[in-house]
Amino acid sequence: MEIETFSLSKTYDNGKQALRPIDISFRGPGIFSIIGLNGAGKTTLVRILATQLTPTSGTATVGGFDILRDTPRVREIIACVPQEARAVPWLTPLQTVSSYLMWRGYTYRESRQMALEALGRVGLSDEVRVKNRMLSGGMKRKVLVACAIASEAEVLFLDEPTTGLDHISRKDLWSILRDISRERTIVLTTHYLDEAESLSRSIAVMSHGRLLALGSMDDLRSMMKHPVSIRVYGPPPEVTLENGTVVRMEDGEQIFTDEGTAQEYVRVLISRGTRFYISPVTLNEVFESLVRGERGGEAHSPAD
Ligand SMILES: Nc1ncnc2c1ncn2[C@@H]1O[C@H](COP(=O)(O)OP(=O)(O)OP(=O)(O)O)[C@@H](O)[C@H]1O
Ligand SMILES: [Mg+2]
Repeated sequence: MEIETFSLSKTYDNGKQALRPIDISFRGPGIFSIIGLNGAGKTTLVRILATQLTPTSGTATVGGFDILRDTPRVREIIACVPQEARAVPWLTPLQTVSSYLMWRGYTYRESRQMALEALGRVGLSDEVRVKNRMLSGGMKRKVLVACAIASEAEVLFLDEPTTGLDHISRKDLWSILRDISRERTIVLTTHYLDEAESLSRSIAVMSHGRLLALGSMDDLRSMMKHPVSIRVYGPPPEVTLENGTVVRMEDGEQIFTDEGTAQEYVRVLISRGTRFYISPVTLNEVFESLVRGERGGEAHSPAD
């Protein structure tokens, strides 16, 4: 399913410009992640795409349907887990998911069957009949994710689905999302950049309602002047780096540089027997650089 925005913007009634005109295109299936600091406009964008909020200008299409002109058609093909959603405390997970499915038009029998299966997938088989209010925060979150997974919606909007989940549950959910994303399109927001890096076919980096970058992890990396990271342990060699930035650490240094310089530097490190790790920069590093670059920071700014 394709998701496209056309000069989409949002200014809230109080005058807050949450989304500046933004043009995004993602062709699913797969996972499209939206990352950005608090207040960047991620939720605003997701809510507009999910037809919960009207844009101030521009429009968007989801699966070819216009969010403004074909709103009911868009709603038929999507499911969402909003950032602030809470499971109804006096229902059980089974009741929560199956009533959601009945509301989407499935029969009672189908809904129960599909709900049990989805709750099993998110690891809540033992809790299907426990009241939601008795569940931990992370378990409550999983109940809502199970609703979206259980529906056969072709496009899922998940606004911070893994916030509050423990490390193992988060990794388990990744594998479920990866699995689902083979056939369906998932729009995901997250503050866990390792998550976005590991799952996404495409990533939108937002800041102050603007799109700073859009593309695959490789695309984002190639925007960087210094796409290689070298972590040196122990006393660093007294060699001047042609290109790159060096961050001194207590136990060595962290270097960001280009591939050619990295190769030369690594030769020196090997000849001196210095311990080091070399890797492509992570999304964490790309993100930091983009956001700092936007603020006019000097440290490893993106390519001009
Ligand atoms: N209903 C509203 N009325 C006025 N301003 C709003 C409203 N909702 C959000 N905003 C503002 O719009 C901006 C973007 O908010 P949004 O919720 O989209 O950010 P976000 O990227 O999802 O942040 P977070 O990571 O904290 O969830 C913020 O400055 C926020 O204060
Ligand atoms: Mg948000």
